[in-house]
Amino acid sequence: ACFSLGVMVTMNQRLEADTLLLVADEFGYKIEFSDADLEETDAEEEVDTEESLLQRAPVVTVMGHVDHGKTSLLDYIRKTNVIAGESGGITQHIGAYNVKLENGQRITFLDTPGHEAFTAMRARGAQITDIAIIVIAADDDVMPQTKEAIAHAQAAQVPMIIAINKVDKPNANPDNIRQQLSGLNPPVLVEEWGGNVQAQEISAKFGNNVDVLLEKVLLQAEMLELKANPERSANGVVIEASLDKGRGYVATMLVQTGTLRVGDYVVAGKNHGKVKALLDERGKNLTEAGPSIPATILGLDGAPTAGDKFRVYADESEGKAIANKREQLQRELSIRTKKHTTLEELGRRI
Ligand code: GTP
Ligand code: MG
Repeated sequence: ACFSLGVMVTMNQRLEADTLLLVADEFGYKIEFSDADLEETDAEEEVDTEESLLQRAPVVTVMGHVDHGKTSLLDYIRKTNVIAGESGGITQHIGAYNVKLENGQRITFLDTPGHEAFTAMRARGAQITDIAIIVIAADDDVMPQTKEAIAHAQAAQVPMIIAINKVDKPNANPDNIRQQLSGLNPPVLVEEWGGNVQAQEISAKFGNNVDVLLEKVLLQAEMLELKANPERSANGVVIEASLDKGRGYVATMLVQTGTLRVGDYVVAGKNHGKVKALLDERGKNLTEAGPSIPATILGLDGAPTAGDKFRVYADESEGKAIANKREQLQRELSIRTKKHTTLEELGRRI
């Protein structure tokens, strides 16, 4: 059938999806493509024993309406906890960073626009956020994007902490916010109102009570009993990736379990490569990154998509084979969604 279509192939050669469709059609069959093929390329999960699981830092996303103070809050936290005492202090923008608080505990913040973190990542089945901070300006109302953020957190079953921001402003009315939250459907009842959602009045601009907010994050994290095994080959999720003129492809990864090291062979989505360098958000070299630690890696052969899962393979050839199979399957899957290829088009391409 292939020959009659003008496609020269051998018996054991894989066919492109559109060719498959045409060939099947010749014999009166319809082909259904299944995502299961893609999943099959993910190796079996190792099982962690109870003793191997150690506490890990919570991964926190900040969401809220435009101008309610998300960036100010993240900036304040980063400034006081990351840059302080560091030489230089020039912070590159990276999609995630880990802060060490005065009490030695750590929190990882995702600095991507909150909605993306939820929609793009969740669309790929990657749940990376443990806790969502919903920032609401006390001189404003519970706005459409506030509601959307709350809905995202609820849909993902991620606990929220409400940061009632801008309380330094003379026209701030935190009670108005608490009241409007209680009027949502379903209602969001903060602790002062007898509910179980933690809330904290803050001023992100001046830093007032941001430390108390972070304590509440840690309290929430404790209740979640977040654990992971650092003693295994790393896997996690791609936060962002791009092509850097001088350094090649750079990808920021959040390690979820295991420990990522320089020299590891990584497969991320349909890309792969040996980790040449691991960097933190200040561009400083790391030798390794454990659970909940974000790191920017150099050495991939392309830019994977945000939300792609990544995994370290002990055997480089196995990793390569899996990356190639993924690429092929993804190509076929994407063709499936394109319009049906005609015979002429097929002939032209070949
Ligand atoms: P988008 O990224 O555009 O959605 O906004 P955002 O939520 O990141 O808000 P951003 O942090 O950029 O703050 C918006 C404005 O509010 C800026 O002018 C801030 O200086 C101001 N602002 C943020 N937090 C506070 C605060 O606690 N008090 C006061 N007075 N102003 C604040
Ligand atoms: Mg912002």
